[in-house]
Amino acid sequence: MVIESTENQEVNDQFGEVHWLSLRAAAIDILRTPCPVVKARKTEVALRRWKEGDLPVTLGAEPDLVPDSPARPAIIGKGKAKGGSMKAMIHGVCHAESYAIDLMWDSVARFALGDGEGGAAPPEAFFDEWVQIACEEARHFSAWAEHLKDRYAISYGDLPTHDMLWEVAAATKHSLRARLAVVHLIHEARGLDVAPAMRARCVRAQDMKAVEILDRNVVQEVGHVRAGVRWFIHLSRSLADADPQEEFLRLARTFVNPGSYVVKRPLNPELRLKAELPESWYLPLAEDEPQDQPSEEPDESVQGSLLLSATPQRAA
Ligand SMILES: [Fe+2]
Ligand SMILES: [Fe+2]
Repeated sequence: MVIESTENQEVNDQFGEVHWLSLRAAAIDILRTPCPVVKARKTEVALRRWKEGDLPVTLGAEPDLVPDSPARPAIIGKGKAKGGSMKAMIHGVCHAESYAIDLMWDSVARFALGDGEGGAAPPEAFFDEWVQIACEEARHFSAWAEHLKDRYAISYGDLPTHDMLWEVAAATKHSLRARLAVVHLIHEARGLDVAPAMRARCVRAQDMKAVEILDRNVVQEVGHVRAGVRWFIHLSRSLADADPQEEFLRLARTFVNPGSYVVKRPLNPELRLKAELPESWYLPLAEDEPQDQPSEEPDESVQGSLLLSATPQRAA
């Protein structure tokens, strides 16, 4: 397939032909695609083919080819990006969104054959949602990458990045419920918490295009958290016949910063409520004492948020 309206030969070369026979095969191919632009475009194709009923979830007897970590562009300056500038902040968000695409496809590929806890794969409705979410993450990435070029004259990858964001995927690769708990109910919810500070900073910088992108994305990120909550409850009840709240607390304490707080303040209770994430789930994990009034300046954890904080709490 040749991508129209692009002068980027590298993108066309990497896109090549897609011969996916299943959604799982598409997911693995996208994970193995290093260029994030191609990754995003392949995600759009996968969504279209999935909606057309063109792909079964799996052919049933596929070998386990899910890569341990996705192909990524070379990291030019591994380490923590400096958080001082709007340019760096948006680059950090763009970086997190590129990982978000991979995270969704990793969940599709890894749990298409089973839930990782000895149970069956989730029903097709789960894949409907995850393909849609992967596509929304791809659009988030594309919007930020385009904005970086248009306003800040840099491309994604021009600033230092890190690969710490994949740690949550690696730590939860054996359990879909752990994946949902950590990725969606902890880290994506954290993205909702930091959105107001990031928005305020964009307004102060008079970057109204960034405000527009952020406002649009946040609505979808609420949906991603909500989907995580819903499927976590479904799996906990059907697989373990266990209390979902207790299961969530157990998994969160196991996989995120054991012995310390899991949920950082300030919180955004309004968006968490919209995401149907109960207070009784996250307040027991939150820092004891609220910090001082939230600073208008987003701290460095805002970078790379919306999906994940840029300083992810390390998994056990
Ligand atoms: Fe996103
Ligand atoms: Fe998301």
